[in-house]
Amino acid sequence: MKIFLDTADLEEIRRAAEAGLIDGVTTNPSLLAKAAGDRNPRELFREIAEAVAGPVSAEVVATDAAGMVAEGEQLAQIHPNIVVKVPLTEEGLRACRTLRSRGVGVNVTLCFSPLQALLAAKADATFVSPFVGRLDDVSSDGMRLIAQIREIYDQYAFETEILVASVRHPQHVVEAALLGADCVTLPPSVLWQMLRHPLTDHGVEAFLRDWKALGKPLL
Ligand code: E4P
Repeated sequence: MKIFLDTADLEEIRRAAEAGLIDGVTTNPSLLAKAAGDRNPRELFREIAEAVAGPVSAEVVATDAAGMVAEGEQLAQIHPNIVVKVPLTEEGLRACRTLRSRGVGVNVTLCFSPLQALLAAKADATFVSPFVGRLDDVSSDGMRLIAQIREIYDQYAFETEILVASVRHPQHVVEAALLGADCVTLPPSVLWQMLRHPLTDHGVEAFLRDWKALGKPLL
């Protein structure tokens, strides 16, 4: 399962990429607005794409298909790793088809139902992003949606990758992996939580303490 980082924070992206922990990055206009400050968005996308060896989702803000295609083509020119993110609307799916026919990777985002995911796959999306946390927030079952999409895509051998988004905690990642999701995108806090276990910390401390007590160099 590919692990993407869901942020536009370059420091976090570089840290995770240099540790070899991530396969790509996803952003959205809210995350970009938070990280950009007075930086040029194009420049920030370029730096993010240079920091990670994998797809970087950059979202359009136009609401009509022609505008999305125009923005998408410009975004795709920033760096070969850029994947254009469009919303799962009628206009977004029109834009998806056009961009895909021109060889541009597309992530169809804001997916909340299996039928929306079916339409995204039929529009030849490279990725579909179901938002599990936002479904859980409204007392719906986010992970059930992932199971349904997996079954539908396998049934018809769709190649669209299921990119589990709106992840809130490590258990979402465990469930996504067990269900065979292709990718997850994580806020940095969840990535660092995944790495840690108190028994690992205690084990490292005990090994070092015991070795120090011997008073010899290792090599
Ligand atoms: C997906 O690509 C989105 O950026 C993201 O996962 C949204 O998550 P949120 O519900 O935490 O905003």
